[in-house]
Amino acid sequence: MATTTIVTGSIEGLLQEERRYPPPPAFAAAANVRDPEVYERARRDPEGFWAEAARELTWERPWDRVMDWTPPTVKWFVGGQINASVNCVDRHAHGERRTKPAIVWEGEPGDERVLTYEELHREVNRAALMLKALGVQKGDRVTIYLPMVPELPIAMLACARIGAPHTVVFGGFAPEALAGRINDSGAKVLITADGGYRRGQIVPLKQNADRALAAAPGVEHVVVVERVGAAAGIAMEPGRDRWWHEAMAAVGDGGCPPEPVDAEHPLYILYTSGTTGKPKGLLHTTGGYLLGTSLTAKWVFDLKEDDIYWCTADIGWVTGHSYIVYGPLANGATAVMFEGTPDYPDKDRFWDIVERRRVTVFYTAPTAIRGFMGWGAEHPAKHDLSSLRLLGTVGEPINPEAWVWYHEHIGGGRCPIVDTWWQTETGMIMISPLPGMTVTKPGSATVPFPGVEPDVVDGQGNSVPLGQGGNLVLRRPWPAMARTIWGDPDRYAAQYFGSYGPAVYVTGDGARRDEEGYFWLMGRVDDVLNVAGHRLGTMELESALVSHPAVAEAAVIGIGHELKGQGIAAFARLRVGAEATDALAEELRRHVAEKIGPIARPDRVYFVAELPKTRSAKIMRRLLRDIAEGRVVGDTTTLTDPGVLAEIKASYGGAEAVE
Ligand code: PRX
Repeated sequence: MATTTIVTGSIEGLLQEERRYPPPPAFAAAANVRDPEVYERARRDPEGFWAEAARELTWERPWDRVMDWTPPTVKWFVGGQINASVNCVDRHAHGERRTKPAIVWEGEPGDERVLTYEELHREVNRAALMLKALGVQKGDRVTIYLPMVPELPIAMLACARIGAPHTVVFGGFAPEALAGRINDSGAKVLITADGGYRRGQIVPLKQNADRALAAAPGVEHVVVVERVGAAAGIAMEPGRDRWWHEAMAAVGDGGCPPEPVDAEHPLYILYTSGTTGKPKGLLHTTGGYLLGTSLTAKWVFDLKEDDIYWCTADIGWVTGHSYIVYGPLANGATAVMFEGTPDYPDKDRFWDIVERRRVTVFYTAPTAIRGFMGWGAEHPAKHDLSSLRLLGTVGEPINPEAWVWYHEHIGGGRCPIVDTWWQTETGMIMISPLPGMTVTKPGSATVPFPGVEPDVVDGQGNSVPLGQGGNLVLRRPWPAMARTIWGDPDRYAAQYFGSYGPAVYVTGDGARRDEEGYFWLMGRVDDVLNVAGHRLGTMELESALVSHPAVAEAAVIGIGHELKGQGIAAFARLRVGAEATDALAEELRRHVAEKIGPIARPDRVYFVAELPKTRSAKIMRRLLRDIAEGRVVGDTTTLTDPGVLAEIKASYGGAEAVE
């Protein structure tokens, strides 16, 4: 293994990365996939490859055709019928895995709950009956706004059981964001909790929900999980609100027969940010999604019968949907689920869990790893992490320093790392090592999963030579791809298939492929930020800013941030009469957090007399970026009023609030 020090921060530097990590021989010898022939087989006959894997799932009715592709519309396993809860629960609940833990849950205060497959089956059945009793029918949407408690996957699987698509809204989102998602999906039922725990404080979920419901009149029933008890101080609205435990007790244990649904039946809608102010509801369907998530979970995480698998994501994001719930459970795996944060009560909380639960496979985000690095290796060193055998990362590019630190201090130098590239839209991991075969390079997501065909193209859609950068596209449909944007198929077609012809999916990411064909992700090329692995659209942030009475106009850009990968810088032009003070900057930061959620709080706020614009009135983000990052300002010849820049620069270091 070479130990070259590399220059970070530039792709040229990354491409000079010379360290290589071949799979350890013992790992490779026992890996689920060992034969490179899988890549060749998938290339020769992609549909045959997926169909073979799909036979591992339990189908109620076999499919007639593997795939119908009328770009940009795809259908997988046409004519087939399947039920996701049967695949994730029933088929394990009656056999040898009956008493195997499916979900090992740990609450922030240290409470725990272990659900075996049999117990999970009972809970999912009851919850499905409860939803039916509330009038939920096949095709109806159910919004779920819960903390990381076992009722969250139970509710999701219950929805899947009766064919009601769920739409999970991350518990960190604010009332307005929740209301927007409820209204867009048209949900009539909301499942929430009295509260959740975060760093010892109570997150007032029910109160948030009540505020959201004032603007979401379509919701008829609210089911409330009791998590924090009297401390939440909530009010229940008679006729509308009921407690989860009471409603569950009322339906009894009679069982709820699963509803067989078409392979293309909607499984869920998940909202994510795009380049407009309105989040888009990506629709995932049942058969292809289950196949994509279960196969990647089995191959990328090398899941074996006795693994204790822990993905630290929140189920409010796609990572939790695919790799806490559907992928692992379809494999009959044991999944750890944790409610809290890595540094509460202490900075070794994760390592304490790994040691006590004997976690074997651990999947987290680069932001978290950079955080661990900053806190120091003494925290993991206090714990026995020898149970770990495989590590993963997802959500944003990982810098080689963080990769190597993770390998050494968490993986003890013996665990392969899978850096997995994918998106809410792709549903499943798309570019990643297969840990028993792929020689990894720190900072590269390496190679496409078998059957996946990414390419790097220029502005015209032509493939660029190896070594050059461009736009990352996907040239072939895959089973778990999102089928549409809920209620807006035109936006789906235009956004993802509008650039290079209807058969080429545009990811919105920039990438390079090196001489060996390894992919190096370079971040978003559109107006989407990736803050600590979470997607935020600049337009959404800007709308939140201008909704404050003091702000006339705003522009938001991403800035380098040591921990979060990207931070948020907001430039605001104030209305006449508003005063540019530190107090106002702080108020605006709070305002954005209240509108969208704490993850959206700007790191910096700059007050400007004008925003720099081109003659066609487009905001020149590049110039704002140069200013925020203290670089020399570039070409300004297209600016309507170059004098604006001097003023903006003057405000840099002036009235700003820095976190
Ligand atoms: O920019 C890429 C980045 O996260 C985006 C997708 O965000 P989201 O839909 O929220 O899903 C996150 C979890 C799958 C991508 O467009 N991204 C995700 N994984 C990686 C990544 N960037 C680099 N390397 C990764 N492994």
